[in-house]
Formats: sequence, C-alpha cells, structure tokens
Amino acid sequence: MDNLQFKRHRRLRNSAGMRNIVRETHLHKEDLIYPIFVKEGTNLKNEVASMPGVYQWSLDRLDEEIDEVVSLGISTIIVFGVPADKDECGSSAYDSNGIVQKGIKHIKGKYPDLIVIADTCLCQFTDHGHCGVIEEGQILNDPSLELLAKTAVSQAEAGADIIAPSNMMDGFVAAIRQGLDEAGYVDVPIMSYAVKYASAFYGPFRDAAHSSPKFGDRKTYQMDPANRLEALREAQSDINEGADFLIVKPALSYLDIIRDVKDRHPVPVVAYNVSGEYSMVKGAALNGWIDEKAVVLEKLTSMKRAGADLILTYFAKDVAKWLNEN
Ligand code: PBG
Repeated sequence: MDNLQFKRHRRLRNSAGMRNIVRETHLHKEDLIYPIFVKEGTNLKNEVASMPGVYQWSLDRLDEEIDEVVSLGISTIIVFGVPADKDECGSSAYDSNGIVQKGIKHIKGKYPDLIVIADTCLCQFTDHGHCGVIEEGQILNDPSLELLAKTAVSQAEAGADIIAPSNMMDGFVAAIRQGLDEAGYVDVPIMSYAVKYASAFYGPFRDAAHSSPKFGDRKTYQMDPANRLEALREAQSDINEGADFLIVKPALSYLDIIRDVKDRHPVPVVAYNVSGEYSMVKGAALNGWIDEKAVVLEKLTSMKRAGADLILTYFAKDVAKWLNEN
C-alpha cells in the first residue's frame, strides 16, 4: 500500500469542532416563518386532527399562540383565516371586518415588530372551495383578479407587512401590485406563491382551513408535479409582474425546483414545507419510528442547501426551541 494515492476527506470530519467550521449550510431562527390559523368564534383552541400540535385559534385566545412565538424569537408569521360564513365570491376574504383582517390588526397591535404575512386567496372563503370566481363549472381567471386585489388591499389596511397571494390565477401579482400601489401601499412587498404544484401534500391543510374544493380539483390552476420548465416560466412571470419574494411549494419533493429558481432570480426564495410533509413526520414521530428533532433539522437544512432563504414550516416553534437549546 506504499504508493496509494487518494484524498483523505475524513480529515474534515474527525471532530465536532472540525465539522462545525466546515459546515456549508446553517439554519437560523430568522429563516423561519410560522403559520397561524385564526378562526371566527370564541374560546377556541382546536387541534387539527391530521396535524398534531397545530391549532385553530379564536381571536380571544390568539395571544397564547403569538406570545409563545415571540418569546421563542420567531420574527415572522403567516396568517390563514377560517371564516364563519362563505359565499359564491368569497366576500369574507376582503371584508375589512373579516377574520384575517381582525387577526392581523390584533397581532400588529400587540407586536408591531412581528412581521405578519397575509395569505391572499379565496378558497377558504368561497362556498365552492375554489380559489377564484366560478361560472358554469369553470374557474375564471380575470374576474378573480379584481377580488384578489381587493383582498390584498384590505389585508394591507389591517396592517399586513407582506402580501402572499396563493391562488395561481395568471396575472395575480400584477393585479395585486396595481391594487396596492393605487391604495397607497407602494412599500408593501409581495411574496408570491409563484411555483405552486397541484399537490396531494396539501390534504391536512384543507382540514385545518376547511378549504377543500367541493367539486373537481385545482389542476387547471395549480401546476403539474411533472413539470420543471413550467416552474421557470411561472417564476419569471411573477418577477416581471413585480414579485419581491418567490415561494416554491411544496418543498421536499421539489428541492430541484428551489435550486433552479434560486439560480435564476436574485430575490429571496421561500420553501413552503407544507402540511402533508409535517403530518408524515409527526405521525412517524408519534409512533416512535423516527427521531423527530434530527429528521426535522435534516429536512430543513436540505431546503436551505437547495437554495431557500426562508422556510415556511409548521415546525417553526420546535425548531426555534431546538436552536435556542444549542
Ligand atoms: C390556499 C392555500 C393552500 C395551502 C396554502 N394556501 C391550500 C391549497 O392550495 O389547496 C396549502 C398549505 C399546506 O398544505 O400547508 N390556496
């Protein structure tokens, strides 16, 4: 074995200290965005059956959740609404007294420095559960844009720091940007769900937000999981229309797409670690089949390694606790 030539990669792995100084990817608390479900009603802290540890909160109990989030050092949340009433055109989405608007006002009143993102969509608010206006069974694109812009403006009025449109109508970023600018909210950024696949991993969220479509599916507006070039076109359109952040959703089965988007666009990229990805890990962890902390940290690190700057995740509170321990 005298003349054997090879590279000793293990030199850089031989101790924890050595591994620490050569680590390429780091998770920070600032990377985390925590989703909160606010529900119309009183004295509610309803655990979502398919998402153990995730709750729907009524406004009168919301402080329990946001106090914890702030005390853990999480800087950013996204608010989803579960309204009392739904109608054909989702009018509770853009009601200045709607559940999301009331929730944002409450949160910003108590914690003005907490960054509050509003999810801007119609599906939780329409009686048919689709993300746009319906006529003869078709989801209409252009008439939906006006309602989305109205929703975004009402959320900005309530105090939202960032608008995150998730409904996948073409032109939604342009319409919302114009709506916000005309209403005087030129400084409110748009975090677009630019690349959103028609994914089976959203199932548990639809339990949490009561937003399943009553007929059909979302495949005429959300993307085919088989497509990569289409994702690049979607991201490019949203950049052209003025998006300030790009979201790729879901995250784990789409790490290649996160990398593609990050390599092409010099804007912050957000990985949305969706409900089904949460539930799979929770389910296995509750059965004692995996080491939850290790698996979650590995998953989130892989999203950052793929190019994500921010991670929207139901695990944000757990991760913040684990990072605080270190
Ligand atoms: C609303 C919306 C959905 C999610 C976020 N915003 C559901 C959907 O598109 O059906 C899914 C989030 C998750 O699964 O965690 N359009």
